[in-house]
Amino acid sequence: MSIEALTSDKEVISTNQVCNYEVALENAVSSIVKNVSKIGDRNPKIGKTNLKYAFCGPSDWVSGFWAGQLWLAYKITGEQSLRNSACLRKAYHQNLLEHPHWLDHDLGFQFSLTAVAQYKLLGDNDASEQALRAADALLSRFRRVGKYIVAWNETHELGLEKTQGRTIIDSLQNLALLFWASNETSNPTYRNAAIEHAETLMKHIVREDYSTFHTFNFNAMTQEPIKGETFQGYSDASCWSRGQAWAIHGFAQIFEHTGEHKFLELAKNLANYAIERLPDDGIPLWDFDLPSDEIPYRDSSAAAIMAAGMLLISSHCDNSMEESIYHKAGEKILNGLIQQCDLSQNPQAEGLLGEGASFVKGGLVNNMLPYGDYYYLEALMRMNGYTDFFWK
Ligand code: GLY
Repeated sequence: MSIEALTSDKEVISTNQVCNYEVALENAVSSIVKNVSKIGDRNPKIGKTNLKYAFCGPSDWVSGFWAGQLWLAYKITGEQSLRNSACLRKAYHQNLLEHPHWLDHDLGFQFSLTAVAQYKLLGDNDASEQALRAADALLSRFRRVGKYIVAWNETHELGLEKTQGRTIIDSLQNLALLFWASNETSNPTYRNAAIEHAETLMKHIVREDYSTFHTFNFNAMTQEPIKGETFQGYSDASCWSRGQAWAIHGFAQIFEHTGEHKFLELAKNLANYAIERLPDDGIPLWDFDLPSDEIPYRDSSAAAIMAAGMLLISSHCDNSMEESIYHKAGEKILNGLIQQCDLSQNPQAEGLLGEGASFVKGGLVNNMLPYGDYYYLEALMRMNGYTDFFWK
C-alpha cells in the first residue's frame, strides 16, 4: 500500500487522544515492583477475571515474559529486588534445557528475556552458556533443505504427522536468540539459519495482500511447500491478529539484525495491513476476519505487540512522513491500551493489561497475559525514548 493511502486515512489517525506516556510507564513499573513478592519465583502464565495469575508448569512458552518485565523495570529503576527476582528464573530454565523433548521453537521467547538479558545486564557467564545451549537446540530444529525451523514436537496435540513439517509465524520472535549466538561465538551458522528461515516465512507464510497465515506446512520428507493453515486463528484463510503482530515486530527485528531493507519494507506492509483494519479504539479483535456473528473478543496482547512493532518500524524510517505514520499508529494503539485495558493502578491486579485473547477456540478469552504485559512495557519504553531491548 502507498504512503499516500495511509496518510489520507485521517479519520483513523485523528481519533487519537494523547495520553501521558511517562505516567503510564511509571504506573506499569510500580505495578511490577508491587507484584515482585506476590509472584516470587513463579512464572505467570495466564490470568482471569480475579486479576490473579496462574503459573507456568515446568515447560511453557510463556515462561520468560515476567522475567523480561523484571529486567526492563530493573534497567529503568536499578532496583535490586527486580534484579534478584529476575535471577531466580535461572533454575527453571536450566531444568527446561535438561528435558530436550520439552524444547521447541519457543526457545527464543524463553531464553532471550531470561538468560540473554541476565548476561547482557550482569555479564553472567553461566547465563550466557545457558543461552548458547538454547540457541544450539533451536538451531537443531532448522531443516536445511526446506530452510525453516520446525515449530512444534510430536507431543503437540496435532500429533507427529501434522507437526514435523510445520513452521509458525510466532517463530520470527525467536530468531533474536540465533542472531545473539552468532554475535557471541563469531559463528555465522546461527545467523544464516535465522535469515534463511525469515526468507522462507516471507515467501510462504505472508500472503500477497500482506496478511499472514498462522502456520505453514511443508512435506516433512521432501520439504516441498504444501499450504498455510491456522491453529489459533479463526480459519485457514483468516488473519489471526496476534500472528500479524508477531510478524510486524519480528520482521522489523530482522531488519535491525541484518540491515536488509527487504525485511523493513515487509514489516511496513504487514503494519499497513493492520493499520487499515484497526478499529477506532485501537484494539484489534482477536482475528482481523472475524465474522460479525461471532463474539467480538478483543486481544490486548496483539495490540501491545503491534504497538511495540510500529514504534520499532518508525525508529528505522528514513523519511519523516513514514516515521510519523508508524509512530502515530503505535500511539493510537497504545492510547487504546492505556485508556481501556490498563490495570496497573488496580492494587489487586497481578498483570498490566486485561482483555487478552490467549486461545479463543480453547475458551481462553478476557485474560491477563504476561506476553501482552511484556510488549506493553516495551512499547511504553519505546514511547519514552528507550531503544535497547534484549532482542538485539
Ligand atoms: N503460541 C503463541 C501465541 O499464542 O501467540
